[in-house]
Amino acid sequence: MDKIVIEGGKPLQGEISISGAKNAALPLITATLLTQGKHIIHNVPDLRDTRTMLALLETFGVHWERDGATLTINTENIAGFEASYDLVKTMRASVLVLGPLLSRMGRARVSMPGGCAIGARPIDYHLQGFKKMGVELDLDEGYVDAQVADGLNGCTVYFDIPSVTGTENVMMAAVKAKGTTVIKNAAREPEVGNLVDMLLAMGADIEGRDTDKLVIKGVKKLKPAEITTIPDRIETGTYLIAVGAAGGKVKLKNCNPSHLPSLLEKLREAGLSITETDDTLEVSRTGSLRSIDFKTLPYPGFPTDLQAQTMALMSMANGLSVIAETIFENRFMHVAELKRMGAKIRVDGHSAIVHGNGGLTGARVMATDLRASASLVVAGLAASGVTEISRIYHLERGYEDLVRKLDKLGARIKKIKEEK
Ligand code: UD1
Repeated sequence: MDKIVIEGGKPLQGEISISGAKNAALPLITATLLTQGKHIIHNVPDLRDTRTMLALLETFGVHWERDGATLTINTENIAGFEASYDLVKTMRASVLVLGPLLSRMGRARVSMPGGCAIGARPIDYHLQGFKKMGVELDLDEGYVDAQVADGLNGCTVYFDIPSVTGTENVMMAAVKAKGTTVIKNAAREPEVGNLVDMLLAMGADIEGRDTDKLVIKGVKKLKPAEITTIPDRIETGTYLIAVGAAGGKVKLKNCNPSHLPSLLEKLREAGLSITETDDTLEVSRTGSLRSIDFKTLPYPGFPTDLQAQTMALMSMANGLSVIAETIFENRFMHVAELKRMGAKIRVDGHSAIVHGNGGLTGARVMATDLRASASLVVAGLAASGVTEISRIYHLERGYEDLVRKLDKLGARIKKIKEEK
């Protein structure tokens, strides 16, 4: 297994380009299942998760090819409709094939995602929505077996909590359903908007993009689409936070600052200097870091996917920071590892109280989930001494070229084979 070794304390300098968003690319890829033909998706990051999703589509008979960041996906003939445990256990987002398969085949069998490192993460909202559309659901041997005999019917769905993949799944099921589907308290994340744009390009009739109410009028026919994946706002945020931690001055290109409203404000409050254009961000930190309090919330609130990285930053600030995690119940796995690097953090229920102590020291730590791993990289870049992060396959699920990009910014970072 590989590990990442970082010799911390070197400010970051230079410029890098942000990749396409993992969480946008995954639903765009599954949406190609909705109709026959050749779809083109630009700006697709080459990550473990996007490769897993393409491997899953291959099991249905889909052909695809990659040319740089552009994927051509041919969904002319599809045969299978089962997403196996082996694939779903490595990537929960595999459940995003449910909506498109039900729409096109009237049948889908998908392994139930189990609990994961950050909490129970059920898919009951997805299933409730399908049930209201007339789908018969059976749970057997850990699989959701979903079937609809006479096609899907439009319905009204209300989500207690705005679910990102739940909104995407129900919306994909609805585009060719009979009648109108209304999703109330829909997720407003930019990745949902990217999917709306793809479905519109396919000929769907959807109103309410970027609002909490999506109205989808079923259409008879869809056509293949060409779409560009939006920039990854979580990758963007992670590099901003990394500069906050290590210091220096960095320009991020091909990003979308308007997708990070809460983070940019919070980082400025913490003492970072940030200037933005439509598609670039320039960030620097020269002075000391100030402690900030924040709470994770659905978009446009503070993203849960940046909580761990910001906590690492706060452990280097001067003062007390209170961080509330309201999206996932168990998303503090990084705390124990950050403590090994000298962070002073106390978890109390859904909150973490961070006593910033000005600096961290390098240590051997273990990645536990995707964003927790990113927080260890942030910490390692700023810590004095050497940090070794093992189990980095988590990072490879979501950060394209992380080591190369940080190396380009002057970080002393390398990936090495871990000795047995
Ligand atoms: C997506 C993102 C993930 C991000 C999360 C929250 C993808 C592939 N992943 O995950 O990176 O951290 O949004 O921004 O886009 N819930 C239920 N029942 C459901 C669905 C959700 O109770 O059927 C709850 C969840 O447990 C959680 C909350 O709703 O507390 C939001 O989760 P959700 O938005 O669904 O997360 P994902 O779509 O899985």
